[in-house]
Amino acid sequence: MLIPVAEAPELDDEASRVFAEGWPEFIFHDALAKQYSERRDQYFPHWNFYLVPDEASPEWLLAGCWGVPIAWDGTVADLPGGYSDALARAVTSYEAGVEPNTFVLMAAAVRPNQQGRGVAAQLITAVRDRAVAQGLAQVIAPLRPTLKTRYPLTDIATYLTWTRPDGLPLDPWLRTHVRLGATVLAPAPASQTITGSVADWEKWTGIALPSPGTYVIPAGLSTLTIADGTGTYVEPNIWVRHA
Ligand SMILES: CC(C)(COP(=O)(O)OP(=O)(O)OC[C@H]1O[C@@H](n2cnc3c(N)ncnc32)[C@H](O)[C@@H]1OP(=O)(O)O)[C@@H](O)C(=O)NCCC(=O)NCCS
Repeated sequence: MLIPVAEAPELDDEASRVFAEGWPEFIFHDALAKQYSERRDQYFPHWNFYLVPDEASPEWLLAGCWGVPIAWDGTVADLPGGYSDALARAVTSYEAGVEPNTFVLMAAAVRPNQQGRGVAAQLITAVRDRAVAQGLAQVIAPLRPTLKTRYPLTDIATYLTWTRPDGLPLDPWLRTHVRLGATVLAPAPASQTITGSVADWEKWTGIALPSPGTYVIPAGLSTLTIADGTGTYVEPNIWVRHA
């Protein structure tokens, strides 16, 4: 059962504890996304969800997700550049009074001890149905391909074409979406851009970065470049559209 986060404050502590490990620290330091996140909380609190079994209680928090409504004309050309750009479009369109027609599923996390059991499929189906029922007929996502961490040197446009012998995507998170009927729309090579000092990056990644150059970092989907005392990481994602 999907419940809006605002209706279940008793699950908040549990949620921040169990979902914290889902993402690397550096992902929370995207300056563009930060610029819009407060207004996102203010304008779209009803698009943040917890997934619980029918009897809600903290120990039964299964998963969580959130998204934003945007206006999108259905073409690849009109897709936001990625995660941060979708957030920016949602906020600025809301302020301009633009009517949204599309739900962008921005992030999803399944409780670690419940992963690999199809919970994500329940979550995606529930949130997709909710979006459609509320008038957002198109559902898209700039998804963070989880296995890309093993292939940080591979271009995202190439990575998204990789399949297993059964024809399904090699990437497990992309596979879950495709199994539910999603189609791959396009790569989002610059979905998020994160910059920081060398000291910031050493703290965020837990590794020493002694010289300028290119580094493979833990949980990075691409590499980190250090130049002139600044580290820059550009996160590639994949745009998918649900049926
Ligand atoms: C990505 C995520 C949401 C998928 O949720 P899920 O409920 O585990 O998804 P599924 O059960 O559909 O599993 C998808 C595939 O990954 C595999 N898998 C998932 N978790 C696994 C784990 N911990 N160990 C091994 N395999 C795992 C599954 O076996 C499945 O592969 P299959 O297609 O061969 O069956 C979840 O792993 C998660 O919360 N990750 C951390 C946050 C994150 O990265 N979110 C996505 C970016 S927003």
